[in-house]
Amino acid sequence: MQTSMNATTAHANMLTSFAASQLSGEGVIPGDKSMSHRALMLGSLAIGTTKVTGLLRGADVLSTLSAMQALGVEILDGDDGDITITGVGTFGLRAPSEPLDLGNAGTGVRLLMGLVAGQPITATFTGDDSLSKRPMRRITDPLELMGPEISVSEGGLLPVTITGTDTPLAVDYTPKVASAQIKSAILLAAINARGTTIIREPHISRDHTESMLRHFGVEISQEIADDGQHIVSMAGEQSLKAADILVPRDPSSAAFAMVAALITEGSDITLPAIGMNPQRTGLITTLIEMGGDITISNERVEGGEPIADLRIRSSTLKGITVPAERAASMIDEYPILSVAAAIAEGSTYMPGIAELRVKETDRISVTADGLRANGVDVSETEDSMTVIGNRDAITGGAIIDSCHDHRIAMSFLTLGMVSKVPITVSNIETIATSFPGFADLMNGLGADIRAGNYEAAS
Ligand code: S3P
Repeated sequence: MQTSMNATTAHANMLTSFAASQLSGEGVIPGDKSMSHRALMLGSLAIGTTKVTGLLRGADVLSTLSAMQALGVEILDGDDGDITITGVGTFGLRAPSEPLDLGNAGTGVRLLMGLVAGQPITATFTGDDSLSKRPMRRITDPLELMGPEISVSEGGLLPVTITGTDTPLAVDYTPKVASAQIKSAILLAAINARGTTIIREPHISRDHTESMLRHFGVEISQEIADDGQHIVSMAGEQSLKAADILVPRDPSSAAFAMVAALITEGSDITLPAIGMNPQRTGLITTLIEMGGDITISNERVEGGEPIADLRIRSSTLKGITVPAERAASMIDEYPILSVAAAIAEGSTYMPGIAELRVKETDRISVTADGLRANGVDVSETEDSMTVIGNRDAITGGAIIDSCHDHRIAMSFLTLGMVSKVPITVSNIETIATSFPGFADLMNGLGADIRAGNYEAAS
């Protein structure tokens, strides 16, 4: 009894990807996760009512939505699929009666810490097992300089408790890494600061917070210095005026369908209205350099962000060196790039990716181990990975533990589409954090992803 119950439970949490013959048709990718978190937070701080169209209904974003409600903001989910936020202004948040549990949402918890740091309220932040292992000092260190009281658990981990201040100090801060989460947390705390806050990133990270603040009427400047440093400057004590938001479709989710179509012979798919913010398109640039047949058309700006339609046809890919400076613009795409690299001719060298070691899991080692288990030759250093491409070597057949990392799960299910023996991925529940409906969407394009392990799915 015990055995069969365990087996059933385990199978329920697994997906198996069988070889796909060819992918075709149109894939409607869900809304952008980064933009969805920010829309909920900034809409809450605005004066007036903000309508959000295209919000990602992923578990991470829903955690942020619940947290904003617990902070006293009225957020309604309309029948038309739009979200309506009644903003409370920059000082209107209420202390939550319970700890804010952000689940798996790294961006949610880190940006919210910034938000609370600049408000006269106390909140405790918690998360799931994966989030509870991720470093928080990179956020709390700069926030502490701004005046709030912060207690961080041993090892710099969650739970974190912040008693914010209504008079935060402006800072001039130079983070060690280009991280949109660090930058955004500081900016959110700085909205109520007296004086101008300056953040000097080593190079530009995704700038959705800056664009969206501007969309809400905030004056904020961005400048790239000769040495590549990205300098963001914002005077505090500004108010946000409600403004409707259209969330573009997520380029980081589109990445899986793109690579699947490139590596599956005979494929030809289109992905309409994908976000094309230049700080998010590093993977597209890289895949085109590898020989990928990707056509970008109908480029337009909607809701202040560039979007475009993509057409992807299967291609013979070749290995390349991915410039380290490009890492920030494709930081979440290295696991799926590694899948493309495994099929490419020659080796693909990915330097400057130490940040991958502190994502939902250590994405360098989990990707490298998973590829090796499926017959791919991979080497890694502390801050780089090299994949030796060879389509014929991909045996498949391994059971990959996603380690509760959505992008690892989706990457190996994509690899299964071209491997000799199907690939099973366990702990797939976190796919819903960023890409609910992933398997259905891919199957609609022609993939063959089935519930359960190999035996159960066959
Ligand atoms: C995100 C920033 C990135 C990225 C994460 C989303 C954001 O993290 O990995 O998935 O929305 O700001 P870092 O800013 O820490 O690189």
